[in-house]
Amino acid sequence: MTVEEMPMQEVASILSLADRLDGVPPAVKAGLLAGRKIALLFYESSTRTRTSFELAAKSLGATTTLVSDKSSSIEKGESLKDTGLTLRALGAECIILRHPASGAPFVLERACGLPVLNAGDGMHQHPSQALLDVRTILQRLHLAGRPVEANLLAGCTVAITGDIRHSRVARSNGMLLPRLGAKVLLCGPVELLPEEAASLGQEVEIVRDFESALARAQVVMMLRIQRERLAGLEFDLAAYIDRYQLTQERLARLAPNAVVLHPGPMIRGLEIEDEVADGPQSAIEQQVTNGIALREALLLRALGVEL
Ligand code: CP
Repeated sequence: MTVEEMPMQEVASILSLADRLDGVPPAVKAGLLAGRKIALLFYESSTRTRTSFELAAKSLGATTTLVSDKSSSIEKGESLKDTGLTLRALGAECIILRHPASGAPFVLERACGLPVLNAGDGMHQHPSQALLDVRTILQRLHLAGRPVEANLLAGCTVAITGDIRHSRVARSNGMLLPRLGAKVLLCGPVELLPEEAASLGQEVEIVRDFESALARAQVVMMLRIQRERLAGLEFDLAAYIDRYQLTQERLARLAPNAVVLHPGPMIRGLEIEDEVADGPQSAIEQQVTNGIALREALLLRALGVEL
């Protein structure tokens, strides 16, 4: 399910479960998925998503196994379907999948009949990232614990800046944040932000000038230039840095109270300056930490366990 299709009640329930899980003693938590088996199937590299899903599963008492495209029979040509069936035959009850092809989690779920959690599929969606981003925004704006409904983020403007064209994070956030009442400004040069991106929704607007976007934003989400997906694209990196880097000077002048987010990995000195990444407005480490409870909640729901 994409975040666009996810009922608001489900979004609310996941966020509330993540909040409650933060208060559950580790010994109690460790019994919730004791004896259950979860497979992590990663066809693309990952640090945050893979590690937080794995730590989340382990903190709930599950046994995990990692299958990576680099060190498995996928290298020998085994298909996604056969890999899924193999994991099921080995006892996996849920698969966490990162894959370069859009829609791969849906294909795998149909093929193996197990719940599949999307850990990022191509340039399509990254639902757990968008949910943890919302969790972080609510905490930083002192809205955590309020009823999650269509106007929760009314009056909040989020400027998502950078390589929108290739970003599943931008797509998922661009769908989820307006459903909670936020205005989303997409900001970047035309090579990285095609005009069609505005079709994400009525509350999504393209603003080419970074400084204008910053001046309107309560939240600034910076994105990495995805060099691995730039094949054939002419791109002037120096001009990009000049126009779109989130510098301390820009932040202090235009958005001195804004919350700074980045899904990672960051390329310091390219889209963001060190002083901003490590500064008081940065919620980047908080995003990472929030990923654990959020993914614990997703795992409990996938395996039908109530708290
Ligand atoms: N945010 C994110 O998906 O980071 P990783 O690629 O390190 O998992």
